[in-house]
Amino acid sequence: MLGFDLTDDHQLLAQTVREWAAREVAPRIHRLDREHTFDRGILPQMASLGLLGVSLPPDQGGSGMDYIALGLASEELEYVDTSLRVILSVHVGLNCLTLASWGTEDQKQRYLVPQAQGHKIATFALTEPSAGSDARGLQTVAIKKGDRYVLTGEKMWISLGDVADNFLVFAWTDMEKKRQRDVSGMSAFIVERAFKGFASGTLTEKWGILAGNTGFFKMDEVEVPEENLVGREGEGFKIAMFALDQGRFTVAAGATGLIRACRDASAAYARDRRTFGAAIGEHQLVKEMIAQMESDYQASRLLWLRAGWLKNVGRRNTRETGLAKWYSTVASERAAGDAVQIHGANGYSDEYPVGRFYRNCKGAVIYEGTREIHKIMQADYVLGYRTDKPTRCELPAWDGTES
Ligand code: CAA
Repeated sequence: MLGFDLTDDHQLLAQTVREWAAREVAPRIHRLDREHTFDRGILPQMASLGLLGVSLPPDQGGSGMDYIALGLASEELEYVDTSLRVILSVHVGLNCLTLASWGTEDQKQRYLVPQAQGHKIATFALTEPSAGSDARGLQTVAIKKGDRYVLTGEKMWISLGDVADNFLVFAWTDMEKKRQRDVSGMSAFIVERAFKGFASGTLTEKWGILAGNTGFFKMDEVEVPEENLVGREGEGFKIAMFALDQGRFTVAAGATGLIRACRDASAAYARDRRTFGAAIGEHQLVKEMIAQMESDYQASRLLWLRAGWLKNVGRRNTRETGLAKWYSTVASERAAGDAVQIHGANGYSDEYPVGRFYRNCKGAVIYEGTREIHKIMQADYVLGYRTDKPTRCELPAWDGTES
């Protein structure tokens, strides 16, 4: 049955994540952000809550919850700090769910199960110094030699790239198709940090999501066993786009949490702060900003819930997920800007969280498909220039999610 109520399990999950993040992270996040510190101790805690395998089946090491649960966890984590949600985005959304759909049984046992249980941390590596939006423009190559592929190239702007153990890496396996920018020459591989020739570093100049690490890595003739090819040779681009359907979903739900955080912080401040003989919440121009936050929060939530429901019932959702990601990230930028405005000079100081929200929101308007890429995709769907066809592997549907 289609309805708007969350199940008891969903409500319990949201409450558990909310209480954990409020208790364990919120009191420290200001310091972690100010000191640009990623607290690795958060990872085992998230694992013990089942969050690192939240929407994976138990036989793959997961918690056995559906994609709505993944969205709720993303929303609650980003309510406290974007860096927490990013962990879910890259580890679960972009990596684990991709292996669950496209991985071999051997890859699931060797990589997915330990990842879902939190013994290993994983991320996704598409972006390169000269290829972000233009995913066809990547330069990394994988040359087949006997029973191995030899990977050479450089990846950049990889969330947890300096922390993760395992990487889902995209590279050209057909050099003629690389020259022609024909994506059927691209393939996907599981690369371990421990492989010889792999070297990573931390990007230190970013000005948002400072409690989360972003890295780069170089592969200098890294030998990857052929068993680590994900999908078939030539399916890499589709796998990357498929992975982004899940990553963008977590970004959308996370941005929804950020809007809620802006709304709640603004409402609390507006009830307390007085000007011209009244609480600023009594002033119509402040009410207007708070009303906009509420409308953006509710609309964003409905958009990611619809995308999550489509995933649950096993329907293609690239269009709906992209719309949710585009709308909610742009709305979160508006909400964060207005939250700073409502806080006035205090919003411009680091003493209140809204300045951090303002710095954190911008990344999601850029990564996992910029605002502009998403606008073009949505226009192309409407114009009939883009349609979603079924792919060889789809996300596993969740049984019983409609009860
Ligand atoms: N699932 C499965 N298959 C898909 C798919 C999906 N979601 N989307 C496309 N495909 C398939 C298509 O069906 C097509 O296959 P056929 O030829 O068999 O029909 C093939 O893939 C090529 O698709 P397109 O023609 O749509 O490809 P395109 O070149 O037009 O795509 C684009 C253009 C949409 C702009 C794409 O390049 C894009 O999304 N760019 C943005 C990349 C991005 O988001 N990067 C962020 C990386 S992650 C990050 O930054 C964060 C981090 O920390 C990891």
